[in-house]
Amino acid sequence: MKLIDRHAGVAEEEIMAYREEVAGLYAAMVDKTAKGSEFLGWMDYHDREDPGVFQSIMALGEEIRQRAEALVVIGIGGSYLGARAMIEALTNPFDPEDNPGVPVYFAGNTLSGVYLEELLRVVKEKDIYVNVISKSGTTTEPAIAFRLIRRIMADKYGDQARDRIIATTDASRGALLTLARNEGYRTYVIPEDIGGRYSVFTPVGLVPMAAAGIDIGEILRGIEAGNRAYRHQGLEDNLAHQYAVLRKILLSRGKNIEILVNYEPKMNYIAEWFKQLFGESEGKELKGIYPSSALFSTDLHSLGQYIQEGQRNLFETVITFDRLPLDVAIPLEEEDLDGLNYLTGYSLNEVNHKAFQGTLLAHVAGEVPNIIFTIESMDAFHLARLLTFFMFSCAMSGYLIGVNPFNQPGVESYKNNMFALLGKPGHEALKKTLEEKIHE
Ligand code: PA5
Repeated sequence: MKLIDRHAGVAEEEIMAYREEVAGLYAAMVDKTAKGSEFLGWMDYHDREDPGVFQSIMALGEEIRQRAEALVVIGIGGSYLGARAMIEALTNPFDPEDNPGVPVYFAGNTLSGVYLEELLRVVKEKDIYVNVISKSGTTTEPAIAFRLIRRIMADKYGDQARDRIIATTDASRGALLTLARNEGYRTYVIPEDIGGRYSVFTPVGLVPMAAAGIDIGEILRGIEAGNRAYRHQGLEDNLAHQYAVLRKILLSRGKNIEILVNYEPKMNYIAEWFKQLFGESEGKELKGIYPSSALFSTDLHSLGQYIQEGQRNLFETVITFDRLPLDVAIPLEEEDLDGLNYLTGYSLNEVNHKAFQGTLLAHVAGEVPNIIFTIESMDAFHLARLLTFFMFSCAMSGYLIGVNPFNQPGVESYKNNMFALLGKPGHEALKKTLEEKIHE
């Protein structure tokens, strides 16, 4: 993975001026004196975890692929975004036959009755396995979806439903753990010292990936490579720390919105995962960069105008690939009625690359700094390394702007209001206040 930073308008000396500060912050992460350090378990989880856990996940993936037509993953936020990101990036969305694993459907990440009812119809029809994922075990969206799906599983499979339901949750507490123990579901543990948005490479993400046929060995190799590259002191050769510093410098120049740009539609959910990671980690105490995303060239026909000429508070972080798994050649036509014969000889990926170069030059000229990452290949190994990169950079970025990157106090506000409005016991006073406000 390479960083091309000459388009961000930040000199190397400016980045290196943070050497001491970054060294101090990283030392505090390692000796666990940094803010929120009880959630730094993701840094060395793969060195500490029993290898038998990863073997068992691979075996479960094989079992699901043998015995089911689909896997339903129930979870929200950090309990589904990572799995969805990797699965969408690494599978063919049009032809399930072309994929090594089963299709994975996602439930419990919305309160839409339309979405869930459409999914429930599929669950009734197909032979399925269910992986319900919640660290707290009490999150409303997945709990509702699981209540409904559990009932369908019991109707379809009777006592054998328990063999087809896997619960991924905390080792010692939560309603989901109690339910799993009562019903005799297989369980996987989300380690206590790993928060949801840093949990993609624990059983939270690995079980769905294994069912989808993603090579877990390659994922583990990618994480190892990421740990080697980004888990060390020394700003000079730690790209994750350099990116964190670049973001901090751009923020100090008023660039408080970051657009993660992709040119591959399969990367859309990697962007969703990225937005959760950085948004929940940094957006607190009235601080932080607002993380957003765009897919080019698609969004150049919608957001492009704003990016080129709107408020100058944006910067872009662009992901490109050296190698892509597939390509299409543009054919010659005898009669050049559509005027495209000048493109003959180009492949579509080459045209996409020219779109990237043209856009980069236009946006930089329009005063939108660009940070460009070039990744060798869009495969399990390199994407696992990329996500590891983002986790290390996000933690450092949060520390650099002075927040605890591992809590999310703000997400409770909507929940309390929703519970009160729904009449959850214990929220009576708030219900009254909110209803008065609604009817004002
Ligand atoms: O990153 C986080 O902590 C959150 O996004 C959680 O993952 C999300 O709220 C789901 O929580 P839980 O896994 O407890 O159901």
